[in-house]
Amino acid sequence: MLFAHNWEVAVLCGIVGMIADSVKTQDVVEALKKLEYRGYDSSGIAFVENGRLRVFKSVGKIERLEKTLGDELRKEIKVGIAHTRWATHGAPNDINAHPHTDCTGNIAVVHNGIIENFRELRSYLISLGHKFKSETDTEVIAHLIEEMYDGDLLQAVLKAVSKLDGAYAIGVVHSEHPDEIVAARKGSPLVIGIAKGIGIIASDVTPLLKYTKEVIFLEDGDVALIKKGRVKVFDSSGKEIERKVHTIDWDESAAEKGGYKHFMIKEIMEEPQTLVNAMMGRIKAGDILFPELASIDFSKARRINVVACGTSYHAALFFKYFVEFHTDLDVLVEVSSEFRYRKPHIDKDTITLAISQSGETADTLESIRLAKRLGSRIISITNVVGSTITRESDLSIMMNSGPEIGVAATKTYVAQLAILALMGLKIVKDRGFWSERHSKIADTMLRLPELFSTILSEKDHILEIAKKYESYSHFMYIGRGYGYPTALEGALKLKEISYIHAEGYPAGELKHGPIALLDEKFPVFAILPSDSLYQKMKSNVMECKARNAKIVAVATSGNVEIKELADEIIYVPRVPEDIYPLVMAPVIQLFAYYVADLKGLDPDKPRNLAKSVTVE
Ligand code: AGP
Repeated sequence: MLFAHNWEVAVLCGIVGMIADSVKTQDVVEALKKLEYRGYDSSGIAFVENGRLRVFKSVGKIERLEKTLGDELRKEIKVGIAHTRWATHGAPNDINAHPHTDCTGNIAVVHNGIIENFRELRSYLISLGHKFKSETDTEVIAHLIEEMYDGDLLQAVLKAVSKLDGAYAIGVVHSEHPDEIVAARKGSPLVIGIAKGIGIIASDVTPLLKYTKEVIFLEDGDVALIKKGRVKVFDSSGKEIERKVHTIDWDESAAEKGGYKHFMIKEIMEEPQTLVNAMMGRIKAGDILFPELASIDFSKARRINVVACGTSYHAALFFKYFVEFHTDLDVLVEVSSEFRYRKPHIDKDTITLAISQSGETADTLESIRLAKRLGSRIISITNVVGSTITRESDLSIMMNSGPEIGVAATKTYVAQLAILALMGLKIVKDRGFWSERHSKIADTMLRLPELFSTILSEKDHILEIAKKYESYSHFMYIGRGYGYPTALEGALKLKEISYIHAEGYPAGELKHGPIALLDEKFPVFAILPSDSLYQKMKSNVMECKARNAKIVAVATSGNVEIKELADEIIYVPRVPEDIYPLVMAPVIQLFAYYVADLKGLDPDKPRNLAKSVTVE
């Protein structure tokens, strides 16, 4: 396992399966619609009819699938599985949409997760004569089950999943077994609902609530055999095991948010899993792999030019600090809306890195077009497969965070920072600067999901602080070095969802004017890790305190002296100083979220804002 814990892969896709005396295709599609928030770039359904497997798939939202199905929607079927996709491997199109089938067309699979070793498995299966149709990692599962199948679907799935590395929640049907669904999970959620005469599987409880509130949550390594009205669960050795039946008391709206009040807090709480997704296949036992960058030799690059907006710009600044601290490579960073109107001095020896979670931000798209005209090679980091930025870049790195429903970027910011840190380490390696310090950073990256889980467990302490400050009209966020992009991001989060005026400033700049603003009505949020600039930062905080400003400090665990200085302290674990922007991200996000919620605002839909700024 890549990480110390079996972290669940964050939301990537939605799968459902239904088996009953009589269920309509429409019922399966309606159940799938309840999961559309989990991914919506393509969808599909497979069902068994008269001993034959029928598969319908369509790019776009689920209503497109309904149009493709037409009269088939009213068909009475015995068993069906369906999938709504958030692409990780392979662009969104009819071929890459799930379900995926084997060579015989008798087996269909729907999958949520990432198969890390799919390339090796695909080559092995091709060497056995299997023919692949799609670019997805999922299709290898269908052919693997075909390879293992000798009449017993459950046994075939048990053998197949034992070959998979990575994360999966799968549903499998076979035309010769119209009375069963086989399901399996490792690292991606899968829930089973059992009611009289019907069995249902789904990625979360939302689709089940119409039929039952009695559910079983599969655990990692479980394989389940679902028949009408009953389920058997087996461990990875094939031994039958008992799983607790839970009674769900959520309504559908709460279920979509995983029981949280808003998508934003749900997405913050997903961040340990988001980190797993972002780093999966890109780091192993402290060695930086990053297969997408295999064709790029950073030792040849003269400089890197980074363009981004908003939160992505703050992630870009982090990358600049990281690469310039550790190597001899220059990194230029500029907001896209300025870069695109300048006459930048870049050429074919400059790599342009565009960071955009949506992949549709107009200013960033125009910036890469300008850079391309000047001869620069374009690398993009984005969360949306098939987005415009992926089509206009020479190379795209996917964040694999799943859909981010909240307008404010939270888990996607964390994914960007993690990917940029790994990219920075690859540059360190390529340019011959690797040392023990970088091995330590790489080891800490692997511990991040666990560290985030510890930080998130302190969320109630952050709520208590937010209660004291939700009525203030101003906030000054300050930081130095890596703390400066963190201060900017903290200020942006607070202003965009709570509408409180918040300034992000380099702490050393306060004395050049902004300190005139400070008084008892103008609190300061100080990014104050025990890093190489701590003493300087401490002096800045003392200057703020001397102006009677309240101090909310984010500091390193074990720092006792800060108690003399700060009115409020939020501790984060001690990490290499390059990693503080990562571990501080959930803190600044939670503070902004709680302040907005306490003010009775909707953090998911802030006024005047859009999730993707496609206008100029
Ligand atoms: C972040 O919380 C904001 N919603 C906004 O600043 C966003 O980061 C910016 O619009 C860039 O979006 P992109 O990453 O999709 O390009």
